Amino acid sequence: MLLAEHAEPDQAGWTRRVFSPAYLESRQVVADLMAASGLEVSRDAAGNLLGQLPGAEPDLPSLVIGSHTDTVAGGGRFDGMVGVVAAIEVARRLQAEGTGLWHPLRVVDFLGEEPNRFGLSCLGSRAVTGHLDPAHLQLRDGSGITLGEALVGVGARPESIQSARWPEKSIHGYIELHIEQGARLERAGRRLGVVSGIVGIHRARVELIGRPDHAGTTPMGGRLDAIQAAAQVILGIDRIGRRHEGAEGVATVGQITVEPNSPNVVAARATLVAELRSLDAEWLAQGDEQVAALVAQVAAGTGVVAELAWVSQESPVACHPTMRRLLAQAVRELGAEPLEVASGASHDAAHLARLGPMGMLFIPSLGGRSHCPEEWTEPEQVALGTSALLQAVRAVDRAQL
Ligand code: HGY
Ligand code: MN
Ligand code: MN
Repeated sequence: MLLAEHAEPDQAGWTRRVFSPAYLESRQVVADLMAASGLEVSRDAAGNLLGQLPGAEPDLPSLVIGSHTDTVAGGGRFDGMVGVVAAIEVARRLQAEGTGLWHPLRVVDFLGEEPNRFGLSCLGSRAVTGHLDPAHLQLRDGSGITLGEALVGVGARPESIQSARWPEKSIHGYIELHIEQGARLERAGRRLGVVSGIVGIHRARVELIGRPDHAGTTPMGGRLDAIQAAAQVILGIDRIGRRHEGAEGVATVGQITVEPNSPNVVAARATLVAELRSLDAEWLAQGDEQVAALVAQVAAGTGVVAELAWVSQESPVACHPTMRRLLAQAVRELGAEPLEVASGASHDAAHLARLGPMGMLFIPSLGGRSHCPEEWTEPEQVALGTSALLQAVRAVDRAQL
């Protein structure tokens, strides 16, 4: 809630997007909280905020816990923040109780997990896995600013981005506590979930280039209407999401910009961002083909020029089996029965899985609502999730993964 005080004033909900002044201010709050909890705080070249707690065996690889503190536009107070604040609290309790770990503990507030105006999500977690490339740094927003330039504004050092990379096998494991962002825990009456896997996301930008004309004098048959073509693409993407060929997935067009965006001008250009999500890589691959066919068909049918570019194609990720077992056991030790759930949202954890065993714990979201101001989890559920994270950290510290 301390972080919620740092929100963009002109946006709905508790908006704190990655490159906003509110985000920059709020991260000082996180850094101060880390320091006050006994963590040694540093910032890497990718703008990640790191808090380190030594382990009894300093040469062992770190056990990593954390999440993100940026939000979507019109977002809530829990998505990401819960995982960072709980991780700091776990470090504080470990010290206060004098029950240290064998492994060093690293608490991370990963930079910019949500999609941003450059179209790339999970900036910080991509960087630690070595997947934030010089080509990404050249991505431009609508006003021509590069991602590299924007990163400087949040205290990152893009010229040495490779130094943020963690060596292969340099982590003992990664555990992230997060709100479920769906309603399965609530429906099942369970207080904690252990995640089985995280959906893959394929995100595409579709540019539809028509021709601006007078909306009163241009006959219906003589138009190249970019919005009309966009409508066909949007409905087609929805149909792709609704097909059920063995596995399930979802498809969304959540963003559209239109030029000149005037009631009496036939639209000259529409830009859509579409995404496909599934736990099934085959469903995603088929979806990619269907999106390409749809865009080509709309172009042929309307005469509008259509360009399709895949912004990112992230595969589904399974949580580590031993992690799942240890996390479920940790939950049971608190007297709760865990529900095994798949994550329809993506997380920094999906990237961290490249570096070592990864596991996730979920706490309920009221009514399954998320990415909206109404996002809510009861304080006692957050407290239970924090205790489960602590219990899991202790168990994973002792385990051979
Ligand atoms: O979009 C997602 O799944 C996540 O909330 N960033
Ligand atoms: Mn989110
Ligand atoms: Mn999140």
